[in-house]
Amino acid sequence: MESLIETRGLTRRFGARIAVDDLNLSVSAAGVYGFLGPNGAGKTTAIRMLLGLIRPHAGEVRLFGLPVAGNRASLMRRVGALVESPSLYPHLTGRENLEVTRRLLGAHRNLIDGALDTVKLTKDADRRVREYSLGMRQRLGLALALLNKPELLILDEPTNGLDPAGIHEMRDLIRRLPEEFGVTVFLSSHLLSEVEQIASHIGIIHEGELLFQGPLSELQTKQQTQLIVGVKQIDSAIDCLTKAGWNVHHSVDGMLSVGAKTSDDAIRINNLLVEHRLEVFHIALAQPSLEDIFLTLTTNQSAGRRAA
Ligand SMILES: Nc1ncnc2c1ncn2[C@@H]1O[C@H](COP(=O)(O)OP(=O)(O)OP(=O)(O)O)[C@@H](O)[C@H]1O
Ligand SMILES: [Mg+2]
Repeated sequence: MESLIETRGLTRRFGARIAVDDLNLSVSAAGVYGFLGPNGAGKTTAIRMLLGLIRPHAGEVRLFGLPVAGNRASLMRRVGALVESPSLYPHLTGRENLEVTRRLLGAHRNLIDGALDTVKLTKDADRRVREYSLGMRQRLGLALALLNKPELLILDEPTNGLDPAGIHEMRDLIRRLPEEFGVTVFLSSHLLSEVEQIASHIGIIHEGELLFQGPLSELQTKQQTQLIVGVKQIDSAIDCLTKAGWNVHHSVDGMLSVGAKTSDDAIRINNLLVEHRLEVFHIALAQPSLEDIFLTLTTNQSAGRRAA
């Protein structure tokens, strides 16, 4: 499969802070790639480098097999992008905003109606953008990015700030794009729950580093059974279980998540806690969600760094 985006050792600092650290992305021509990471992970910085908007301090970006450095203008003709909020003319209508960009691109006049239709803005096309909701503005931004019929569409958190209905609408829209337009979508998000509904491939970035890259199905196979333990004296329980050699995490809901797989493990752990006079009110084997895996991946990484 042809690689649409390839980065090698991509690195960018802001002062002493490393925003993107030795990043090797590989995005092939197919469907939707979800670029996932918590706030401040380095997603926007990486995307700016993909688009040649800022220079890397080390490493290289290749789009369609060609380095962005030196080929930016010709490569960008094949790319559509929506980075953070779109720049729109508020005093112009949606259609007029598209018309301005269409002229700049020298694109055909009849592309505008199609773009409006794709993003479901036909009805509101002749209203001024000043009156548009955030969701409408984002969809107009998407229409602008689609105007030059890109082979690659790069979207930085396109659902940020939208309400649940707006998120749903945007998600449905993006999901249809690869099939309807033959475009590959590279989309960033901080929400795994959102990405797993659209993306076939996933890259997880945290503190500038890539923690996982591969098909969504491969991430799903990382879901291992965990023992969820509710205990009144959490700190003592962590101490006791860690000393006994168990791998323990404090999960967000105040429960402990223990790397145990069988009912015999559950019995042993329960006995151990009770022997230490710790009061157990819940104990159950559970399959973690992808969200848990994401959290484990990202929090383990931070803990490892602090220890290092
Ligand atoms: N122009 C800048 N000047 C200084 N620091 C910056 C700049 N842009 C980004 N950073 C820093 O680089 C790191 C990565 O930021 P970036 O915006 O790429 O993260 P992000 O993953 O897009 O986060 P978010 O989900 O909040 O959009 C952060 O620590 C941020 O503070
Ligand atoms: Mg960002």
